Amino acid sequence: MGPRRRQDHGEIIEQGAEVFDYDLLTGKELVITAGPTREPIDPVRYLTNKSSGKMGFALAQAAAEAGARVTLIAGPVALDTPNRVNRIDVVRAEDMHEASLKAVEEGCDIFIATAAVADYRPTVTADHKIKKSTEEIHLTLVKNPDIIAAVASHAKRPFTVGFAAETQDVIEYAQGKLKSKKLDMIATNDVSGTNVGFNSDNNALTVIWPGGHKVLPLASKAQIAKQLIELIAIRQS
Ligand code: PMT
Repeated sequence: MGPRRRQDHGEIIEQGAEVFDYDLLTGKELVITAGPTREPIDPVRYLTNKSSGKMGFALAQAAAEAGARVTLIAGPVALDTPNRVNRIDVVRAEDMHEASLKAVEEGCDIFIATAAVADYRPTVTADHKIKKSTEEIHLTLVKNPDIIAAVASHAKRPFTVGFAAETQDVIEYAQGKLKSKKLDMIATNDVSGTNVGFNSDNNALTVIWPGGHKVLPLASKAQIAKQLIELIAIRQS
C-alpha cells in the first residue's frame, strides 16, 4: 500500500505509487456526463449502447479528490456515487442535454463528456408494448441533440473536454471531433477490443488538444482518470 495523505476535511486517502495533487482543482466547478442513454421504443424496449459509466465515475472521483465541486450527470448505470459528488440521474439523451445546459448556465469551469450518448432516438414512443404480429417492423429514428457541441458553443462556455470511442482510424476521427465540436481537448480510446474502453476496468487514452497530444498507456480507469484530471488542470489554467 502506498503512502497516506490526510485531506483538509479530515478524510484519509490511500495513494498509489503515483503522486497526485489533492489541491489541483480546488475552487473549480466540474460537470461530467457518464454512462449510456436509453431511448424508449415502447414501455419495455429501448435503444442503448455498452457504456457502464466506469470511466465517467472514475473521473468524477478523481476530480472530487483533486478538490473540485463535481456534478455527475449519469445515464442508467449500476455504480455507486463517489464521495462528495453531486449526482443527477437521467435516462434519455434529451434529459442529459437539458441537465447539462442547466449546469453550464448555473456556472461551471470544466465540462467533461464521457457519456456514450445514443446518437438517434425513435421518432415516436409507443404507449403500449408493440406486438410481434409481423415479420418486420420499421423504426424511424431522429438525431439526438449533440450535448457537448451545445456546451462548447454556449455563451458561458467552460473548458470543454470530449471523449471519442473509435474502432478504426482512432486519431483521425478524434481530431475531426475536436474541430467539428469546437472542443478544447479530446480523449480517444480504441474500443475495437474488450480489454479497454466499454465496460472494462482498464483504459488507454490518446489525449489531443490543438497543437499537442499525450498518450496515457493502459492502466486502471482510476489511474487514467487521475492522469487525465492532471492534464486538464494544466491545460485549463
Ligand atoms: O462507460 P464505460 O464502460 O467506462 O466506457 C467508457 C467509454 C468507452 C464510453 C468512454 O471512454 C468514451 O469513449 N466515451 C465517448 C463515447 C462515444 O460514443 O463517443 P462519440 O464518439 O459518440 O461522441 C464524441 C463526444 O461527443 C463524446 O464526448 C460524447 O459524450 C459527446 N456526445 C456525442 C453525441 C451526442 N449526442 N452528445 C454528446 O455530447
